[in-house]
Amino acid sequence: MQPKVSVVILAAGLGTRMKSSLAKVLHRAGGAPLIEHAVRAARAIAPPERIVVVTGHQAEQVQAAVMHHGVRFQLQAEQKGTGHALQACAGQPGLGSGLLVVLYGDCPLLQPSTLEQLIRRHLEAGAAATVLTARLADPRGYGRILRDGEGRIAAIVEEKDAAPEQRAIDEINSGIYCFDAAALWPRLQRLAPSPVTGELYLTDVISLLRQDGLGAVPLLAGDPAEILGINTRAELAEADRILRARKARELMLAGATIERPETVLIDPDVEAAPDTHIGPFAQLLGRTRLAAGARVGACSILMNAEIGENAEVLPFCHIEDSRLEAGARVGPYARLRMRSTVAAGAHVGNFVEMKNSTLGEGAKAMHLAYLGDSTIGARANIGAGTITCNYDGFRKHPTTIGSGAFIGSNATLVAPVVIGDGAFVAAASIVTKDVPADALAIGRAHQINRDGWARARREKAQREGG
Ligand code: UD1
Ligand code: CA
Repeated sequence: MQPKVSVVILAAGLGTRMKSSLAKVLHRAGGAPLIEHAVRAARAIAPPERIVVVTGHQAEQVQAAVMHHGVRFQLQAEQKGTGHALQACAGQPGLGSGLLVVLYGDCPLLQPSTLEQLIRRHLEAGAAATVLTARLADPRGYGRILRDGEGRIAAIVEEKDAAPEQRAIDEINSGIYCFDAAALWPRLQRLAPSPVTGELYLTDVISLLRQDGLGAVPLLAGDPAEILGINTRAELAEADRILRARKARELMLAGATIERPETVLIDPDVEAAPDTHIGPFAQLLGRTRLAAGARVGACSILMNAEIGENAEVLPFCHIEDSRLEAGARVGPYARLRMRSTVAAGAHVGNFVEMKNSTLGEGAKAMHLAYLGDSTIGARANIGAGTITCNYDGFRKHPTTIGSGAFIGSNATLVAPVVIGDGAFVAAASIVTKDVPADALAIGRAHQINRDGWARARREKAQREGG
């Protein structure tokens, strides 16, 4: 029977190399904070109650970021190194026996399958510790692996403490380990501060184990990119690129067409059904979902959007917390926000903003309109330039437009107001009273024509040499 697995994720550091007031693990890559990626990987090998996140800098925010997983937290008030961070967990229940996997919160590319492989390797080798390592063309910034004659790990030496010939070693420590908990804890208590930095290095546990005749073995990562540890914003951008590429590939393999996948940004929880189409530079964020046949045009940004079957978002739209039903079409240059809905077969055209509004089945709002807090019936036609005046400076008011109603261009609908089914609002009207069903509303100044007035004006100007 496999021993119980616990995971400790170290995430207390500020990350000075980020040059940021925000704790490093709260910086985002691939659409989620770094710490979220670490916790997701951990959850593949342990239940949340056996996962401990060590916090320090901005502990409350870090905690808030991953609390939804139901993991535990350990405060490391002062950050005296990775060994010190793990020492802080000594009192956590359940970590004293079984396997203890340690990860760093700044390693967002790690795949769950690699952690599973690490545990298998650990159990097969019967070692006290197994370290995920990688060979890098540029090993700078990482601890180096010193192997013994039998391919085991003799020690890990930090770059800052390494001699020049040690720095030439290209095998590095990923910071991902599997320990026999019972062997780890007594050695952890014996760590001595680095003479160079004064920190307690978790990596020194390896040589302590070895002094006691206990072995540590390496598992060389198949894909060195997986162990990228984020220390700088340049590395953050690189991790983001890789995570975005992975997500795009996942959707493509599930049947989405993505034009120029290297240009799109798709968050981890986005779903796309088969035969969806995603244009270049599109951003699909949050919990956005595309139903079968849905299309998202170039440069459109969707946040928590739901795009129904065969619905289409043309280029350059911005859609937030809103929904398109089957066959609806919006854009180009449309903005939908705050729970707006475009019902089946309805069309929204360029420079139309919808806020907390519903456009009924087959209705149209094709040009230059603001529809706020409004409910618009089926097949209604909203003319160019229609404005719902939903805000009186204190409160928001609703507008209701009945099915089949026709709103002429440049109408101003002062809410609260109800336009009945089949009613007709003349162009440029200012509507302040309800309009009964099937009625005509004209609310604008009468037109006056003066014969010859323009010609007379021109001639006067000519006489005066204008
Ligand atoms: C560490 C390893 C190094 C490895 C590299 C991989 C040590 C001593 N060195 O170096 O061998 O190649 O990661 O990326 O372990 N942390 C705490 N409390 C502390 C110090 C750090 O929680 O007191 C956390 C940090 O928040 C971070 C992680 O531990 O998430 C790693 O710390 P960092 O300072 O980035 O270590 P590296 O210098 O990169
Ligand atoms: Ca690091």
